[in-house]
Amino acid sequence: MNRYEQVVSEKLERLRSQKKFNLLAIESSCDETAASVLTSEREVRSMAVHTQIPLHQRYGGVVPEIASRSHVERIGGVVRYALEDAKMSMEDIDAVAVTCGPGLVGALLVGVSYAKGLAFARQLPLIGVNHIAGHIAANYISHKELEPPFVCLVASGGHSHIVEVGDYSQFRLIGCTRDDAAGEAFDKVARVLGLPYPGGPHLEKLALSGDENAFSLHAGFNAKPILDFSFSGLKTAVINLMHNAEQTGRELNKADVAASFQRAVVDTLVTKSVNAAMEAGHGKLVLAGGVSANTVLRNRLRVAAEAKGIAFYCPEMKYCTDNAAMIGCAGYYGLLGGQSSSLNLNANPALAL
Ligand code: KG4
Ligand code: ZN
Repeated sequence: MNRYEQVVSEKLERLRSQKKFNLLAIESSCDETAASVLTSEREVRSMAVHTQIPLHQRYGGVVPEIASRSHVERIGGVVRYALEDAKMSMEDIDAVAVTCGPGLVGALLVGVSYAKGLAFARQLPLIGVNHIAGHIAANYISHKELEPPFVCLVASGGHSHIVEVGDYSQFRLIGCTRDDAAGEAFDKVARVLGLPYPGGPHLEKLALSGDENAFSLHAGFNAKPILDFSFSGLKTAVINLMHNAEQTGRELNKADVAASFQRAVVDTLVTKSVNAAMEAGHGKLVLAGGVSANTVLRNRLRVAAEAKGIAFYCPEMKYCTDNAAMIGCAGYYGLLGGQSSSLNLNANPALAL
């Protein structure tokens, strides 16, 4: 054991016995640089997010090199802001949590290196957090009474999973997309409709004035009893619809296309996740990930779950898309549950749950 490991193992023992401590969390897996201070598992004292959306918008998607550079420029300021807003300094921080995957490797490395630097300089315990586990944990912050086990639908820009959450750090994948993630499909279809990046929220807004039954669109495996989904055929169907209309000079109502596409995505997500929740039998269905900000999905999932006697949970809007509070919550439970990371922690772009 080197000096750092010795100091940190004693600190960890103390923190675990006192149960309440101050944790600084950092998130930089994609296009948001975020930091947050938590004073217990579910108490968020401050939260700072710098979004890079305006930097990537002109390219229609996230440019990894631009993302990494922006994280480098912003991370110091974002951490400082989170500490100031919490009325704390690094002296008050007892542990550091950081997203170590999955995500863009260059972007992840900025957060991981920064967190390791802080942990070493201050001789603090460190924990690497899985980004998907973070999205799931966002629900613990919003619902103080929510406890595992439950089934969770995680729908974000990079992932669409149905997960059985057995305990705070115990996950079993029971379904996933075979191709595009739900958010990715929203973004790609939005692009074809001429909407800016990230397309999800813009498409949802456009769909408000459309007829969701105007076009007969369906996601893959929709009628099959398996819990996996597929969105790439649906995306191609929308692209073909738009191209055919263009070639024949027919004017398509874009709001109708947006609403019909959204209905197709929501239909399949609702059917599969409610089926999964019924099969698992925990009586709870949880929604997480960036797409959980979609109001149609939130509402339909709630109605469908409650019709089957299943309690439904989704995060408050501010915790739906990428943030560091959710990473802090997952990290807190990890530390209390006996986990921690060494200074060899590395970014893993394909980290599994
Ligand atoms: O979780 P997140 O912030 O980043 C990843 O981990 O990927 O999710 C971002 C994704 C994007 O694809 C975005 O278009 C989608 O979430 N999203 C939405 C909405 N808000 C964000 N999709 C549909 N409707 C929304 N309101
Ligand atoms: Zn995310």
